[in-house]
Amino acid sequence: MKLLDGKFTSNQIKEEIAVEVADIKAKGGRAPHLAAILVGEDGASLTYVNSKVKACEKIGFDSTLVRLPADIKEEALLAEIEKLNNNEGLDGFIVQLPLPKHIDENKVIDAVHPDKDVDGFHPSNVGKMVLNQPTFLPATPMGIMELLKRYNIETSGKHCVVIGRSHIVGSPISILMARKTNPGNATVTLTHSRTKNLKEITLQADIIVIALGIPEYLTGDMVKEGAVVIDVGITRVADDTKKSGFKLYGDVKFDEVAEKSSFITPVPGGVGPMTIASLLMNTLDSYKRRN
Ligand code: GUN
Repeated sequence: MKLLDGKFTSNQIKEEIAVEVADIKAKGGRAPHLAAILVGEDGASLTYVNSKVKACEKIGFDSTLVRLPADIKEEALLAEIEKLNNNEGLDGFIVQLPLPKHIDENKVIDAVHPDKDVDGFHPSNVGKMVLNQPTFLPATPMGIMELLKRYNIETSGKHCVVIGRSHIVGSPISILMARKTNPGNATVTLTHSRTKNLKEITLQADIIVIALGIPEYLTGDMVKEGAVVIDVGITRVADDTKKSGFKLYGDVKFDEVAEKSSFITPVPGGVGPMTIASLLMNTLDSYKRRN
């Protein structure tokens, strides 16, 4: 078993971007600028958004964090988004999900201008992804593809089983893995809560991508010898022995599955850091398009 080290790989990518940013600044250019909107006080979301802001600082990007109260009216949030759409000094922004229940997530996603949608969630960008046209790819699936690429993992003709059909991960990774690209060209099976005989299907997988949010769901008996396993899950479970008061769990029962797999991502330190690296790559890409 070899670890797919997302922390190491994302640091490599960040160093590569930092070199480009230093070069831009040396030539008198402004820094690329990413903003994030965070609605409410959810601890996990706050941690993720803070990591994104910190990563910007580390590589020389400008960053802006817009914090809004949990009870903000939908119209007021849409007005904040419009301000960012019109801010010429901003290359891209994200609205951290999930949003409070009284806000229509689809309306929010539609409101972000596609040219600033570095999350790649806007229907126009999703459409371009499906058609294999240049666009911002959603950060987590993009990070997974980058990890597979940098570890030279063969995906062409392989059977990739995706578990979970969320708009953020499961659905787009199934599209990216099936596209005529490298990595890609896989035969993809997209499974979800209504799938019957999941274990029969996962046992046929050369590559498994699991994005469920159910701690340790994928056990050793569900995995074929030599499979590549990508664990997208990251769930906080209360744990008094930890200073933070919680422990992070992936969707994979790591020790059991690691024994069988050829490559596996750890949690934390696997897909999570790659998501941030992808967001930075998209922001740099947006900067280049605009300058
Ligand atoms: N919540 C969980 N993952 C993501 C992501 O990639 N982008 C945003 N905006 N919110 C998320």
